[in-house]
Amino acid sequence: MKIAVIGKGRVGSVLGPAFAKAGHEVVYGVRNPADEKYDNGDEIPHDTTEGAAQWGEVVILAVDWGAAESALAQCGDLSDKILIDCTNPLTMSEAGLELALGFDTSAGEILAVQTDAKLVKTLNQVGSPVMAKAHDFPSRPIQFVAGEDAEAKTLVSSLLRDIGFEPIDYGGIKNARKMEPLGMVWIDQAFQHGMDPETAWHFLKLADDA
Ligand SMILES: NC(=O)c1ccc[n+]([C@@H]2O[C@H](COP(=O)([O-])OP(=O)(O)OC[C@H]3O[C@@H](n4cnc5c(N)ncnc54)[C@H](OP(=O)(O)O)[C@@H]3O)[C@@H](O)[C@H]2O)c1
Repeated sequence: MKIAVIGKGRVGSVLGPAFAKAGHEVVYGVRNPADEKYDNGDEIPHDTTEGAAQWGEVVILAVDWGAAESALAQCGDLSDKILIDCTNPLTMSEAGLELALGFDTSAGEILAVQTDAKLVKTLNQVGSPVMAKAHDFPSRPIQFVAGEDAEAKTLVSSLLRDIGFEPIDYGGIKNARKMEPLGMVWIDQAFQHGMDPETAWHFLKLADDA
C-alpha cells in the first residue's frame, strides 16, 4: 500500500522503515522537505505534508499533539483515505508529563471530527523502540485498534501484523479515551519507573486445561 507518514520524529522515523521493510511504499510528509535534517539515510522520499498525504492511501499522523490539528488541516481532503492516529495528547505540567485530555474526550475523537478520512486510533500505546522491533519480541506485542469504520480497522490490523504487532479490536473511537491513558502508563513505566523501553504489552490467556 501507499503509506504517507506525517512527521519524522521518534515515531515516524521508525514506522517508515518498518512499513517499507514489510513491502509497502512509504513517503514522509515533513514541514520542509529540502531540510537536510530529515536525511537519516533510510532512502525513503520526503514531500510536503500535503503532498505526501494526498499521495498516500493510508496516512499516519505521527506529530506531537500541539501540532496535530494544524498538521491534519495541512493534509487537505482525505476522503476515501485511512488515517492512523498515533498521537497522545501530552502536556508538561509541574508534575511532569501528563495527559492534557481524558474522561470526556480524547485526541482520537477530536481529530476524527476534523477529517473526512476514516480515522483509526492505534500505535499510541507503546514507545517507538517497540515499534522499531515488534517482529523481534518472543511473541507479538499487542496493539489496540479503535475506530468507527470496520473495514478501515481490518485493513489497519493487517498493516499492524505486517510490522509485527497483534491487533486487538477495541470498538469505536470513543475508546481512544482509554487507549491514550494506556500510552501514558507505558511512558511512566519507561521514564519514571525504570522499565526497559523495549518492553511491550502482551495478552496472556489461561490454558484450556487450567
Ligand atoms: N515517542 C514515542 O515513543 C511515541 C509512542 C506512541 C505515540 N507517540 C505519539 O506520536 C506522536 C509523535 O511522537 P514523536 O515522539 O515521534 O514526536 P517527536 O519526536 O516530537 O516528532 C514530532 C514530529 O512532528 C513533526 N511535525 C510537526 N508538525 C508537522 C507538520 N505540520 N507536518 C509534518 N510534520 C510535522 C515535527 O517535525 P519538525 O522536525 O519539522 O519539527 C517532528 O519531527 C505524538 O503525538 C506522540 O504523543 C509517541
